[in-house]
Amino acid sequence: MNASKWIKDTPKTSYPKIEQDVYIDTLIIGAGLTGLTTGYYLSQAMKQFIIVEADCIGYGASGRNTCKLTAQHGLIYKSLIQKYGYTLAKQYYDAHMEAIESIEEIVHKHQIDCDFKRCNSVLFTQESEKVPNLQDEYQACIDLNIPCSFIDTVQYPLTIQAGIMFPEQAKFHPLKYMIALADILTKKEIAIYEHSPVTNIIEENGTYIALCNHRKIYARNIVQATQFPFYDQHQFLFAKTYPMSSSILCTPTTANYGDDMLINTESPSISLHAFSIQGQTCLMVGGNSHKTGQFAKEDPDYVQRAKKMFGIEHFEDMWSTQDYMTFDHLPYIGKLQKNNDQLYIATGYCKWGNTTSNIAGKLLCAYLLKQPSPYRKLFDPHRLSSLFSLTFLKENMNVAYEFVKGKLQPCDKEYPQKGQARVIEIQNHLYGVYRDEQDELYIVDITCPHLGCICIFNQQDKTWDCPCHGSRYSYTGEVIKGPSTNRLHSYREGRNQIDPHLF
Ligand code: FES
Repeated sequence: MNASKWIKDTPKTSYPKIEQDVYIDTLIIGAGLTGLTTGYYLSQAMKQFIIVEADCIGYGASGRNTCKLTAQHGLIYKSLIQKYGYTLAKQYYDAHMEAIESIEEIVHKHQIDCDFKRCNSVLFTQESEKVPNLQDEYQACIDLNIPCSFIDTVQYPLTIQAGIMFPEQAKFHPLKYMIALADILTKKEIAIYEHSPVTNIIEENGTYIALCNHRKIYARNIVQATQFPFYDQHQFLFAKTYPMSSSILCTPTTANYGDDMLINTESPSISLHAFSIQGQTCLMVGGNSHKTGQFAKEDPDYVQRAKKMFGIEHFEDMWSTQDYMTFDHLPYIGKLQKNNDQLYIATGYCKWGNTTSNIAGKLLCAYLLKQPSPYRKLFDPHRLSSLFSLTFLKENMNVAYEFVKGKLQPCDKEYPQKGQARVIEIQNHLYGVYRDEQDELYIVDITCPHLGCICIFNQQDKTWDCPCHGSRYSYTGEVIKGPSTNRLHSYREGRNQIDPHLF
């Protein structure tokens, strides 16, 4: 996968691997924004916990986002009022504004050098027929006493029909922030382990045992801060969420676009902002939003449109990111099972993970310490209201469609060219074949180990992506993203067999 601007420009961390069995009160799985923030708040009350990360600090979705910290999440407030009423809709806004304040407080308290900056956020439309939607949203914001204004121009080179501006939002360098959080925890003698993927969890007499690097971590409580909880105990979280991918373009610029962060309401989507990294201003353009693994829904003109809009010949960096959406646009943060006080999750951030992860960190900490929180109800993973929607039916029918479509897809007879992939049939089974630039062939069984959908090749990232619930695999078959915890089987040329020992 292409590295994000944040990952590319920031030295890698080097925390040790889990190499022995561990007995601990609480295990936090995932050292992204959610895991580290949970650890940060938890460390103020107790120290009997560890954090394990499958890769490096912030190398998942947390280190691949657009750096926006905002409570303006598209056309959300009118719909929240209709679905949940004024009180909960206002709570949603308050929770995200508190998150920005909490992050600012942490940054100032620990003097974190992460380019945190307050700025405006703008939701806009370029289509006159969409203006009434924006007017309704503006009225909803006014009804909720949200500070905002209705505008009709922006500093970027685009003509808008209307926009809603939220003041006092912010932006930051997410990876620098995460590395600083990890550093703070290390100074408090909290152990953090990298390259330590948890591949299974089992329960024995009220204790949970996480299997990691052939070692066992015994814990009373487990927090899955892994973007998608792979251990879901028949909660069917994969059916209560759906994965969306998008792309981000980034390049240095000398133009002055101001500090505002923009996002539109229509399709194709576009998200814009300029960010200063080490004294250099970079323009970031997000777009190409599509369901993971469903490339027919991609926005193929996204790069050209961005180039034309800004008169840019070449974007230095381009990377993709993925997040899980819920059907009511509220995340799931809390207990994995309704009556179990030991297992906790945070998922379904709907692409607004920078602030949601701070809310999750505080809320999960409140659960673990048996403290109250005003946000338990709003983000309760067991709320049924999130499932009563047409989108729920539509997305789950789409999974069934993709399952069948994948099995019936036509196969190629010939192996691919360098840098390309093809699907071929061997012994009545579908295999994905990728030929790298060194002419090496990689053949994997592209039947997703999660629930059996057929993965599709992602040419941009050179990954095999599952169109059903968003698992992603490298072309060598390693799991990059769950819900799957098992890799794709490799087809070993020469041996002419599928290696049964690959996990
Ligand atoms: Fe569920 Fe692939 S992720 S079938």
